[in-house]
Amino acid sequence: MAVALVVLAAGQGTRMNSDLPKVLHQIGGAPLVAHALAAGGRLAPEKSVVVVGHGAEAVAKAVAKFDPEAEIAYQPEQLGTGHAVAQALLQIPSFEGKVVVLYGDTPFIRPETLEALTESTADVVVLGFEAADPGRYGRLVATGDRLERIVEYKDATEAERAITLCNSGVICCDASLLALLVRELKNDNAAGEYYLTDIIAGAREKGYVAEVVRCAEEETLGINTRAELARAESLFQARARAEALENGVTMVDPATVYFALDTWIGRDVVLGPNLVFGPGVTVESGARIEAFCHLADCHISRGSTIGPFARLRGGTELAEDVHIGNFVELKNAALGEGVKAGHLSYLGDAVVGERTNIGAGTVTCNYDGVSKHRTVIGANAFIGSDTMLVAPVTVGDGALTGSGSTITEDVPAGALALGRAKQVTKPGLATKLFEMLRAKKAAQGKGA
Ligand code: UD1
Ligand code: CA
Repeated sequence: MAVALVVLAAGQGTRMNSDLPKVLHQIGGAPLVAHALAAGGRLAPEKSVVVVGHGAEAVAKAVAKFDPEAEIAYQPEQLGTGHAVAQALLQIPSFEGKVVVLYGDTPFIRPETLEALTESTADVVVLGFEAADPGRYGRLVATGDRLERIVEYKDATEAERAITLCNSGVICCDASLLALLVRELKNDNAAGEYYLTDIIAGAREKGYVAEVVRCAEEETLGINTRAELARAESLFQARARAEALENGVTMVDPATVYFALDTWIGRDVVLGPNLVFGPGVTVESGARIEAFCHLADCHISRGSTIGPFARLRGGTELAEDVHIGNFVELKNAALGEGVKAGHLSYLGDAVVGERTNIGAGTVTCNYDGVSKHRTVIGANAFIGSDTMLVAPVTVGDGALTGSGSTITEDVPAGALALGRAKQVTKPGLATKLFEMLRAKKAAQGKGA
């Protein structure tokens, strides 16, 4: 059965107290709307439509970055969840199959829960949960799993407010039936909005069957405030850590490792404590990352060891068995198999061939204040400690640069390059100099 995903993300999120549209606030290094798309993505939807309104352009851009195929429906005025769904359906008029509606600010619905929703044979399926504190949620008026209608808190009687089975907002319904039901919605209610929730009563009047599928309250956690955003971040991290352990990753102290939505870590990777994974990191099986590393947008291959205290930034690609040691920063750098950069180095906009050794304190001087330039180092080269490689520059295979060299010209394969002042040695001069200085200091002391 084909599935289309509709994500409602037009609201402003006033209580975030922010210039940023709510769904662009991030957890796990990704905007909330990306989490909704990721959760829904597990249903392998044929179509995805995101309804945008507040900050439409910025939200549409974030959506395109996460899922270039997702369609955008504009809802310039937020006239209610029912109206929002109607705008989404206009975008996919010929779609046949089931539509699943999610909220852009509800990132924790599990894929298994969404599957249960789509597997139900009822005409309209609503995801409900038993609320510890039902607050202002819509209440599900149901007998067992049979749903009669949903009543919004604002419109509910005292007796209805006593119901603890609440509406998560997630629904699943056949596309053509849903289109028919939202078309008939009215806004004669306490909020003056077109409530999506009213489609249940509409469906029942026509003799259709509506059903509740239940999930844990935790999954329906919505984000309305910065405090809820912070709680959502720790919930996300807890889930990501549990998943990594389950997948065969060793973690010395899981509570101190922070993942992003798209972090991918292979089996038998060992992670030390205090690590931060920004977006776009993949680590192959058997690699090892020691304590206090910060990684983003990089790929680490099998057998490599990183850190402690390493920083890997955008566009870094490490082949197998690379060793990156403490206080090494890599940016847009491709390191070949077996490369070692053990200490205190910066390699940016660089390519390094297999088994080359990068001495302590090596810096690729990639920026001239206006443009970035590339450094290319061949295989089996030896870059002496404290070499400044002034890019653009190339060092050939098997070449050697002397410690303390500033390399401004290309070094051919097999050559030794020295770019430093020649050493001058004056026998006995240090001793004489110290005697002179001490005598001077003693004379000054007497004078005072
Ligand atoms: C909604 C439900 C309520 C449920 C609750 C769960 C309705 C009428 N009520 O209430 O039963 O318990 O969610 O959190 O559906 N949105 C749009 N366009 C609009 C209106 C809303 O895109 O015109 C989006 C919002 O950005 C948000 C989501 O839909 O992501 C829900 O809207 P919100 O106003 O938060 O609904 P609630 O009043 O919380
Ligand atoms: Ca809400």
